[in-house]
Amino acid sequence: MNIVILAAGMGKRMRSALPKVLHPLAGRPLLAHVIETARTLSPARLVVVVGHGADKVREAVGAPDVQFAIQDKQLGTGHAVQQALPLLDPSVPTLVLYGDVPLTRASTLKRLLDAAGPERYGVLTVTVDDPSGYGRIVRDAGGAVRKIVEQKDASEEERRIAEINTGIVVSPTRTLDAWLASLKNDNAQGEFYLTDVVERAIEAGVEVVTAQPDAEWETLGVNSKVQLAELERVHQRNVAHALLEAGVTLADPARIDVRGTLECGADVSIDVNCVFEGRVTLADNVSIGPNCVIRDASIGAGTRVDAYTHIEGGTTGAKVVLGPYARLRPGAVLGDEAHVGNFVEVKNAVMGHGAKANHLSYIGDSDIGARVNVGAGTITCNYDGANKHRTIVEDDVFIGSDTQLVAPVRVGRGVTIAAGTTVWKDVGEGELVLNEKRQVSKTGYVRPTKKKS
Ligand code: UD1
Ligand code: CA
Repeated sequence: MNIVILAAGMGKRMRSALPKVLHPLAGRPLLAHVIETARTLSPARLVVVVGHGADKVREAVGAPDVQFAIQDKQLGTGHAVQQALPLLDPSVPTLVLYGDVPLTRASTLKRLLDAAGPERYGVLTVTVDDPSGYGRIVRDAGGAVRKIVEQKDASEEERRIAEINTGIVVSPTRTLDAWLASLKNDNAQGEFYLTDVVERAIEAGVEVVTAQPDAEWETLGVNSKVQLAELERVHQRNVAHALLEAGVTLADPARIDVRGTLECGADVSIDVNCVFEGRVTLADNVSIGPNCVIRDASIGAGTRVDAYTHIEGGTTGAKVVLGPYARLRPGAVLGDEAHVGNFVEVKNAVMGHGAKANHLSYIGDSDIGARVNVGAGTITCNYDGANKHRTIVEDDVFIGSDTQLVAPVRVGRGVTIAAGTTVWKDVGEGELVLNEKRQVSKTGYVRPTKKKS
């Protein structure tokens, strides 16, 4: 089939300079969700109708399999579909989706496509408690669809109909051209309504069928920030339930946000208020403490990530302990059983098997060997104001507290660095390194006292 996604509208009620379909849901534009679902149906052609903010929309979701049709003026949904026609394959049906209806499931769309087949006209409808604002499905005594009437054009009686048009339809394509060309805009909104095509189809002897989604939220659109927030919660609830179904323990399914993909092994547990972004993988038996933000990371089996840890790109081996209050930045690679504790930042650095940096450190652009102990307050001075340099610390080094490693520098295997040392020259294997300084004590010192004013 062809798929046309309508995305030309401005979205005035969002009160934003950003085109409506680019507002993010779960960290990605609304329209990106619709395109992703569309792709799962392997359409022959995938066309997005753009108008308001067309350039921004193209830039945000452009891809080789997506074509764009321009609708300069928003003259109605029928007119919008008309703009896409030249780009469609006339030999297969056309499915119409909406860039601001992000959560429709592929299974629902398949049901509609199956109901319509190649020759019928299909409308996805749903029966709701409050149909106000929507187009109503008008059926005859036998239950066959006769027309769709918009709220603003509906009679009192029609307004009582609870079955509404979700807007999602599928139509044979060859005949669509003539049907759209014959639409009139002599209605309450002065628009060319796609909904009026139903009557054209009936006139042409084409059967009109309907299908329903499994859940009402699948057909909800976003017209305001309130609706956007509501759909975000629906989506996050769905993601949380899928994780629970897969065996993940969530302290509270209402307090997890996944903005990307989260893959979990067996017996993973996640405490409250964690945010996962990009691609995150948690291997078996990983536990994540409360209030962690984890982006683009792969966390090894049995690793414990304690509260308030922030990972923005990184890989850990098995049985690592991270946090509380640890920070991994891109290029952080922690070997098995490494420990990275509170207020330790690791960037573009490898820490070997069992290496530990438990308190208050910056480890940047470094290779830290196995079993190295990084004392509290140790920092790598990796930046000379113009370039970054690497620090190499070989296996079994003991780094005393408050050490500065001025890169580029290499510290040989088994070295002991005394507390408070500035290491700016390479150190040979097994040596003790310290800076000579004196400790001086004086007697008779009197501390200043506060003057009375
Ligand atoms: C439409 C349907 C209504 C249905 C409702 C479901 C029509 C005439 N009405 O009404 O029966 O119940 O959706 O939400 O189809 N768009 C364009 N170009 C245009 C007009 C609209 O791209 O010229 C896009 C909008 O950006 C939006 C979508 O089409 O994403 C729907 O348009 P909107 O004006 O919101 O239609 P409704 O009045 O809600
Ligand atoms: Ca709408």
